[in-house]
Amino acid sequence: MTYRIAVIPGDGIGPEVTTEGLKVLKTIEELDPSLSFSFESFPWGCEYYTENGKMMDDDGIEKLKDFDAIYLGAVGFPGVPDHISLWDLLLKIRKGFDQYVNLRPIKLLNGSSTPLKDDPKLRNIDMLVVRENSEGEYAGAGDWLFKGKPEEVVLQTGVFSRKGTERIIRHAFEIAKESGKSLTSISKGNALNYSMVFWDEVFEEVSQDYPEVTTYSYLVDAAAMFFVTDPGRFEIVVTSNLFGDIVTDLGAGLAGGLGLAAGANINPERNYPSMFEPVHGSAPDIAGKGIANPLAAVWSVSQILDHFGHEDWGARVLEAIETVLTEKKANTPDLGGDASTSAVGTELCRVLEEK
Ligand code: NAI
Ligand code: MG
Repeated sequence: MTYRIAVIPGDGIGPEVTTEGLKVLKTIEELDPSLSFSFESFPWGCEYYTENGKMMDDDGIEKLKDFDAIYLGAVGFPGVPDHISLWDLLLKIRKGFDQYVNLRPIKLLNGSSTPLKDDPKLRNIDMLVVRENSEGEYAGAGDWLFKGKPEEVVLQTGVFSRKGTERIIRHAFEIAKESGKSLTSISKGNALNYSMVFWDEVFEEVSQDYPEVTTYSYLVDAAAMFFVTDPGRFEIVVTSNLFGDIVTDLGAGLAGGLGLAAGANINPERNYPSMFEPVHGSAPDIAGKGIANPLAAVWSVSQILDHFGHEDWGARVLEAIETVLTEKKANTPDLGGDASTSAVGTELCRVLEEK
């Protein structure tokens, strides 16, 4: 079977890191005759915006809809306002394909280091954050009144629908049940007296259908502290769009940095393609230097393989990342090494070929 993958390299280091991810997929294709991939690349992003006045083609969603997966580097670059690059490309795809589940593993891989003290309790970082990815604080609802006047008021409304809230929580319960792990809800019902009170109620309701899953509930501020002082308490975590965005970058910081954090935007019903991307952005400060860490983008490749049902290969890619981290022969400067982006990709492929 040939899987069709749409590639959107995007801006800054996006093309640099996705090149290495594709190198890994091509190596797997050579190693496993039963697997094949076809790639089609789309030049969308900030350069495209500068030339054409839009981040992607008007019929971009239509063009992508029949692919088996979308592989994205990063979007956003100085010169184009971030809210335009984000809303007109990334969020358009997430919303257009109802990718309402954002899966972000936070795991301290073998060979990786954490800024936390070298204490076994603090090295116990292995969680999966299930972030709501379609509404909530990022619904885009609001108003800007009396602009520039003394009475100026800005409203940014969180939207938490029954359908949207229940489906993400249910999805997280399913993952927890399947993996035999606990599920922690992160919310803020004490201060956000509508949205998060509702969130907590739905979490409680859905939990009735999953008596076998141990549940915990944390306020987001306390959760942020426990991420740092006792990360082992968290296994599967479910949270809203904004909180998920923030705690996963915190988690990335704990588990080796943004160069090592991957995220999948999943459409669980599979009526549209899901999208896989590193959590990091376009890193304009290091773009073009050939020193970006491609491991997050390669972890996204592992997630693509899992999504296609080839968990064996997904696991092998993750193991290869751990080997590269442990052997330290090819690590980029963010990990204390001096290897180039492409040297890391080449080393990963060598490790895969050797096993
Ligand atoms: P960023 O993630 O691009 O960079 C933050 C810091 O981490 C920088 O110092 C950068 O050099 C470093 N870094 C990130 N990825 C790295 C990698 N693979 N290897 C080594 N170092 C790495 O976030 P920033 O600077 O806030 O945003 C830059 C642009 O990216 C903005 O336009 C922003 O809107 C966009 N962005 C896009 C995202 C996406 O496409 N999903 C996500 C986050 C930001
Ligand atoms: Mg983010």
